[in-house]
This record gives sequence, structure tokens and C-alpha cells, in this order.
Amino acid sequence: MYVGLDLAPAELVLARRACPVHRFILGSAAALPLPTGSVGTVLSSAALQVLSPLDAVLAEVARVLAVGGTAVATMPDGGALTLGDRLRWGRLRLAVREPLRFPNDAVLRDPSDLLAGHGLALLDDTSRRFGLPLPDPAVAAGLIDSLYLPDGGQRDRDRAVAAASRWVGDSIGISVRRLVLRRVRLRE
Ligand SMILES: C[S@@+](CC[C@H](N)C(=O)[O-])C[C@H]1O[C@@H](n2cnc3c(N)ncnc32)[C@H](O)[C@@H]1O
Repeated sequence: MYVGLDLAPAELVLARRACPVHRFILGSAAALPLPTGSVGTVLSSAALQVLSPLDAVLAEVARVLAVGGTAVATMPDGGALTLGDRLRWGRLRLAVREPLRFPNDAVLRDPSDLLAGHGLALLDDTSRRFGLPLPDPAVAAGLIDSLYLPDGGQRDRDRAVAAASRWVGDSIGISVRRLVLRRVRLRE
């Protein structure tokens, strides 16, 4: 049995629909409603890049994990993109006039010291490329809407959707980074 948590009620509706047997609760990753050392595994999907404040979130992950437990976190990054992918993402960046960065990008560039400070040893840090097929303009629009563009930039968003729609029938590369962490005892 898993307990899922998100700050956004709409995400919880989708999660409950997809996995009715598990429990999903509204809350912040910086204050997990679970006892200390009570879980063996923590999974974070496509969120570490935005979870804030990251230090408090990592402290909570370490607190709820039993010593020896595992945390796995996935997030978007550019690590495994091909040159062709980079050109396409460059086009989208130009269209939205945004660098397409996430709040925790800088600190996650080399997170081992931060993680070790919370008793989380970094076992694996791998980026892998996935091709996202763009079969129709609706998927192209969904890709742009997943980029957390600032509110109010409707014209920039429409330009980006138009740019991505030119690749309908093809695919765009997405690079997903996966961190695997082990909860270790902190030295006194
Ligand atoms: C890119 S979405 C990923 C959603 C989902 N985990 C998935 O894989 O499809 C990032 C999610 O992080 C959630 N989020 C951001 N800050 C959070 C926080 N402090 N605590 C819990 N969830 C948070 C947002 O509400 C959003 O649903």
C-alpha cells in the first residue's frame, strides 16, 4: 500500500482515478504526515525540481525513511538530449522567451553534499532519453502546458504550441534524470 501526497487537489483526483487501491492525501512534501522511520521506500515523480523549500523536503524524506530504506526521485533535465532535441527545445525557449528553468535546478546540479547532510547517500544518478510522440496538436499543447510557464503569458504559450505543432507526426526528446538514494545513519 502506498500513500501519495500532492499540494494540488487536481493531481490527487487523477492519481485516485489511476490507482484506486492506494491512499492519496493533500499536503506538503515539507511536512509529511507520517511517523519517523515508518516507510521503506519514498518515490517522487517529476517533482524534486520544484519542491520547495528543498532542504525541508529532504529532511522530511530522511525522517520518514527507515535506515536502509530507499528513495527514488525522477525529474526532467537536459542530460540525455541529442543535438536535434536541443535545437527543438531551443526553438521552444525562443517562442516562450523563457529559459525554461526550474527553481531547484542550480542546487540539484551537484546534490551529493546536500543529500549527505540529511543522511541520504546517492547510489545512482542517471539521465535517460525518452521520445515523446506528438501524434496531434493536442499532445503538442499538453507538452507546452507541462512546462510551468509563468501565468499570463498566453501569447508566448500560443507561439510555443504553434512551434511544437510543426513537429506533429514526429517526436521530441525528453531527458529524465533519476536519483536513487539510500537512508544511512548520520554520524553523531
Ligand atoms: C510536474 S508535477 C508532477 C505530478 C506527478 N507527481 C506526476 O508525476 O505526474 C509536480 C507536482 O509537484 C507538486 N508540488 C509542488 N510543490 C509541492 C510541495 N511542496 N508538496 C507537495 N507537492 C508539491 C505540484 O502540485 C505538482 O503536482
